[in-house]
Amino acid sequence: MAENTTSQAVSVHAQWSNRTVFILAATGSAVGLGNIWKFPYIAGENGGGTFVLVYLLCIALIGIPIMMAEIMLGRRGKQSPINTMKALAKQENRNPGWVWLGWMGVFAGFLILSYYSVIAGWAMSYVFRTAGGLFLGVTADGVNSIFTDLVSDPERLLAWHTVFMVMTMTVVARGVKNGIEKAVTYLMPLLFALLIVIVLYAMTTGHFLEGLKFLFTPGEIDGKGILIAMGHAFFTLSLGMGAIMVYGSYLSSQHSIAQASILIALADTVVALLAGLAIFPIVFANGLEPGAGPGLIFQTLPIAFGHMQGGTMVGVIFFTLLVFAAWTSAISLIEPAVAYLVENKGFDRVYSAVLIGFLTWFVGLGTVFSFNIWKDHTLTIPFLFENFSFFDTLDYLTANIMLPLGGLFIAIFAAWVMHEQSTKEEMATYPALYKTWRFLVRYITPVAVIVVFLKAIGAI
Ligand code: PFF
Repeated sequence: MAENTTSQAVSVHAQWSNRTVFILAATGSAVGLGNIWKFPYIAGENGGGTFVLVYLLCIALIGIPIMMAEIMLGRRGKQSPINTMKALAKQENRNPGWVWLGWMGVFAGFLILSYYSVIAGWAMSYVFRTAGGLFLGVTADGVNSIFTDLVSDPERLLAWHTVFMVMTMTVVARGVKNGIEKAVTYLMPLLFALLIVIVLYAMTTGHFLEGLKFLFTPGEIDGKGILIAMGHAFFTLSLGMGAIMVYGSYLSSQHSIAQASILIALADTVVALLAGLAIFPIVFANGLEPGAGPGLIFQTLPIAFGHMQGGTMVGVIFFTLLVFAAWTSAISLIEPAVAYLVENKGFDRVYSAVLIGFLTWFVGLGTVFSFNIWKDHTLTIPFLFENFSFFDTLDYLTANIMLPLGGLFIAIFAAWVMHEQSTKEEMATYPALYKTWRFLVRYITPVAVIVVFLKAIGAI
């Protein structure tokens, strides 16, 4: 199948039952820890307002056009990102070397999942802590020490990391179609509703306006902050590594790529902003630090759950849904690698999922230890970062370097390397919409990514 290079490529994989299912799965991939755990803490660390503005601009000008490009490439290639790149390069009579773009994506997904799973493990452990009533009437200091206790215990982190990886492998082994599609249909709207419940609680803290102001009032941002905002736009929309490409490859040809992309990006952005609106008022009401880092949601939301009516129940449901959101993202992080093994090595899905899952689990040990026994082993890369732990380094390199680089080359491939006729045919949309997309992905997107890179290293 890997050798199939005709424009009507035939897939060895199943296809989505319909367009709605594709949108739900892609939204499931996009909405995850990135929205609820990562977005608030990096916005907090980078000063709020301007960071949020840059992030929103990146979603609109870089994210949506690249999402359309990825879905388009996937649907045309109909295989894992590696084989899709190989097939499309051949079909378009271009350099076969483009296949490395697929490889880089697979590698990035593997690295991201290795730490993503550890953080998802934190959320799982919080389901049980909340259920046990640990946060009832808790103070800010109390939640802080509960969080520190968890991350300084490598065995507990390891156990949860293992459980989450087994959950992820199980779904991928069964094929994405049975199970996750249904889970996403019911759980995503529920997560959304619960976020609104917490935002309503945040409104009662008396610091809602302060939170709002923090998120939306422009302030200072430096080149590094801009890079982090752009990197996050890629991360949160699952772009630059082939996750959306592989989902696109299971989409049948009559559906509109543009509409789907806009819907997915919109849903993702609303969830992130709601998470910010839920968290920052609680931060200010309790004299906490917005720049507290990766522990931010685990040190703020439990305060809400500990003090609101029925908070234990809301908290348990909330963390459970967070685990589900992480789960539907995690499967898309290894699907490209698993699809490749199925296509090229003739392995079955179960074997492929277990193999990749085990390797990911193993690399995840580095993240587990970077919060405790390896805390003092840090790395500095000149111009980029100083004294980063293993986790910080992986997170920075994948989200801020590998995904934007992947996205940049995806844009170049779709807009400069492929023939216009092929992209027009595959996109099959209104002429004006196609032209806008092509203009953005040809000029604006690549230039923006390059400018942000140069600014981050201080070259401009
Ligand atoms: N978009 C996911 C999130 O925001 O949590 C993370 C992610 C999933 C990143 C899939 C990249 C990816 F390919």
